Amino acid sequence: MDNAGETLVIRAEAAGDVHAVRKLNKKAFKGNSESKLVDAIREADYFIPGLSIVAEKGGKIVGHILFSPIKIKDAAGSTPALSLAPMAVLPEYQNQGIGTALVKYGLDECRKSGYKIVVVVGHAGYYPRFGFVKAGGKGLKLPFEAPDEVFMALELAPGALDGVKGTIEYPREFHTV
Ligand SMILES: CC(C)(COP(=O)(O)OP(=O)(O)OC[C@H]1O[C@@H](n2cnc3c(N)ncnc32)[C@H](O)[C@@H]1OP(=O)(O)O)[C@@H](O)C(=O)NCCC(=O)NCCS
Repeated sequence: MDNAGETLVIRAEAAGDVHAVRKLNKKAFKGNSESKLVDAIREADYFIPGLSIVAEKGGKIVGHILFSPIKIKDAAGSTPALSLAPMAVLPEYQNQGIGTALVKYGLDECRKSGYKIVVVVGHAGYYPRFGFVKAGGKGLKLPFEAPDEVFMALELAPGALDGVKGTIEYPREFHTV
């Protein structure tokens, strides 16, 4: 599809985008799990509206990214952070830089919201380009089994992970869908 000439707008999700976001997650992931997760998080009290972000091209919602608050916990205490999950671009709009634009805009918004750490469980070949590094090497653990290379973390402020160790505590919604 030739849509390269249409202007790309990255912005916070609005109430009217909910249906389109649900549809695009279903299409990109070829299933319902991620769209259900987004719908469940949107209803949760910890949801940060400005961190559910859409990409709009030619008036159509073609991409979405969501960041949700999580905790990094160990015996010494708890550190707030954000989880990037999920993100998706409509198949016919992939490989045009839309995902990159969503991540970069999203990370700026995370920084402006005062968060210093973002974690992701995702494609090991994709997220390092934004500065994500293996989280296991930083002393972080997941509460479930996953290959070492798919669990990554990013410091939004230099040294944010210094002295921070522990297991990610995801909100209930992440476990139920
Ligand atoms: C991953 C995704 C969001 C990227 O969006 P996009 O708009 O195509 O991304 P960009 O155009 O900014 O970047 C394209 C790059 O992503 C890479 N990429 C896409 N899917 C990938 C995957 N599964 N694993 C690793 N890299 C991937 C492409 O190879 C390309 O790399 P290059 O720049 O080195 O050529 C999109 O492919 C998608 O929605 N996939 C299905 C849902 C999904 O897997 N979401 C992410 C869950 S972690």
